[in-house]
Amino acid sequence: TERSLVLVKPDGYSRGLTGEVLRRIEAKGYRLVALQILTPTTDMLHRHYAEHEGKPFFGPLVEFMCSGRVVAVAIEGERCIEGFRSLAGATDPTKAAPGSIRGDLGRDWGLAVQANIVHGSDSPESAERELAIWFPEL
Ligand code: GTP
Ligand code: MG
Repeated sequence: TERSLVLVKPDGYSRGLTGEVLRRIEAKGYRLVALQILTPTTDMLHRHYAEHEGKPFFGPLVEFMCSGRVVAVAIEGERCIEGFRSLAGATDPTKAAPGSIRGDLGRDWGLAVQANIVHGSDSPESAERELAIWFPEL
C-alpha cells in the first residue's frame, strides 16, 4: 500500500480545522501512520517546496508556511496519494469543488500566497521525498 504526506497548513491549524481534515482522511478509509505538530524551519520548507524555487509565490509561500504551527501527517492506503489530492480539491480554494476540503472550507484571503488549508504529495516520488523531510524516522 501507498503512503502520502499530508500537511495541515498554518491557516488550517489556526482555524481549528485539523480534526475535520483528519476525520475526512479516516472516513475515506486511509490510515494515519504518523503525526506531528510543529513550526517548520525555512530549511525544511526550502527542501519541501524545491520545485517552486524561483516562482513569484515562493518567498510568500515559505513565509506563510513557517508563520505558525503545521500538522504533518503520514497516511497510508491504496492509491492514497491520488485519493487525498481528490479529497483536498483544486489549489485555488475559490475554484475548488464543493465537497472537497478546500471547496468546503477554503476561500480566497487576498494574500500573496493561496492559504488553502492542506498540502498533499502529488506523486509517489514526491511522497517518498517529502516523507523523508517530515518523518526521517519512518
Ligand atoms: P500543495 O498540495 O500545497 O502542494 O498544493 P498544490 O499541489 O495544489 O499546489 P502547488 O504544489 O502547485 O503549489 C504549492 C502551494 O503554493 C499551493 O498550495 C499554494 O499555497 C501556493 N501556490 C501555488 N500556485 C500559486 C499561485 O499561482 N499563486 C499563489 N499566490 N500561490 C500559489
Ligand atoms: Mg504541490
